[in-house]
Amino acid sequence: MSVLSGKNVLLGVTGGIAAYKTTYLVRLLIKAGATVKVVMTPASREFVTPLTLSTLSKNPVLSSFTNEDDENDTWNNHVDLGLWADYMIIAPATANTMSKMVAGNIDNFLLAVYCSAKCPVYFAPAMDLDMFKHPSTQHNFEQLASYGNKMIPAGTGELASGLSGEGRMAEPEEIVDFIEKDIASQLPLKGKICLITAGPTYEPIDPVRFIGNRSSGKMGAALALEMATNGAQVILVMGPSHVSSDHHLIDRVNVETAQEMYDTVHEHIHKADYAIFSAAVADYKPINAADQKIKKKSDTLTIELTKNPDILASVGAMDKRPFLVGFALETENELEYAFAKAKKKNTDLLVLNSTRDKGAGFGVDTNKITLIDRDRNTTEFEVKPKSEVAKDIINEIINRTI
Ligand code: PMT
Repeated sequence: MSVLSGKNVLLGVTGGIAAYKTTYLVRLLIKAGATVKVVMTPASREFVTPLTLSTLSKNPVLSSFTNEDDENDTWNNHVDLGLWADYMIIAPATANTMSKMVAGNIDNFLLAVYCSAKCPVYFAPAMDLDMFKHPSTQHNFEQLASYGNKMIPAGTGELASGLSGEGRMAEPEEIVDFIEKDIASQLPLKGKICLITAGPTYEPIDPVRFIGNRSSGKMGAALALEMATNGAQVILVMGPSHVSSDHHLIDRVNVETAQEMYDTVHEHIHKADYAIFSAAVADYKPINAADQKIKKKSDTLTIELTKNPDILASVGAMDKRPFLVGFALETENELEYAFAKAKKKNTDLLVLNSTRDKGAGFGVDTNKITLIDRDRNTTEFEVKPKSEVAKDIINEIINRTI
């Protein structure tokens, strides 16, 4: 999954021949999972049509402060658009537009949006070789960099003039690659390793029956995805679950029993910077799982159980251990039990969820949590989609450790 997935990308197109390549750039951004809006300078409309770019981006393309064709809609809000963007890309960036970006000369809609944007701005210069080498252009590159804008290097090769040299706009693939690498290099958890347990465990009674629970694995998969989105390498130890967890930074190890989960966790825990235990691990397992299917002979059947290892507590007891986040699923006396659990299992952070809260716990797509730290400080959150809950938890972890 691309780091651009789910992000709002604003593409500013200026008037150069390379503008025709932005059609492909829009497609690549959308393929990466971004939502794309396009703003254009008036001159750029001579090189590529707004219709093409609006069709590809599936959003209206704006190039003026007012919509002259629409008598009811008179004002395009450059501030809203600037704030909407997670990233802005100006491609192609002509010498003319760059000089206005440097000077703050806002004589068109694109420049107004640029000056209103608070997000990282990338620009991909495109011009002829002598214009590229001109001291004023070189000076503008430096000025734009000093404002925090990031230049996507121009290529060398045949130019629209027929001359050959430096000034070709980077190819769309190179632009996306540059931006993805740049974003990835700045993710807060880059280089960190996080081990996550998720889902239920199944404890065999015989070859066809087991003791299990209603955990779907959704909460743990959301945590894994959020950790990976923030740059961490994730080892996801997942009990039986159909929930997917596709991301190039997630290594998933499927397990079935608590013992397998314990063994897998202890195989990897020494390399983890963070560990989050969201799995609903069976506390007990049958002492002797039958080799063959148990036959229906008597009216009652007694299965003797023995305790499973407590994975969270075993990591909490380690001398050298990662930042440790546990979960507590309670049905009554929630805070009291959760405080006791946090202490007993030695967690840095405990995520409390209760079956008494509507939209919380097993199976559903939402959860309602309270975070509890070592000093018994509590932070309560509203019911939210598990993806948002995961964001709250990971943000808390980042704030406390980075
Ligand atoms: O998977 P979903 O359908 O999305 O549901 C999410 C969830 C409800 C399973 C999740 O939010 C949750 O609460 N997970 C923990 C469930 C649980 O078993 O809680 P517990 O209070 O019994 O366990 C406390 C902690 O010890 C947990 O971090 C658990 O992973 C861990 N534990 C428990 C027993 C054991 N043998 N080993 C453990 O590591």
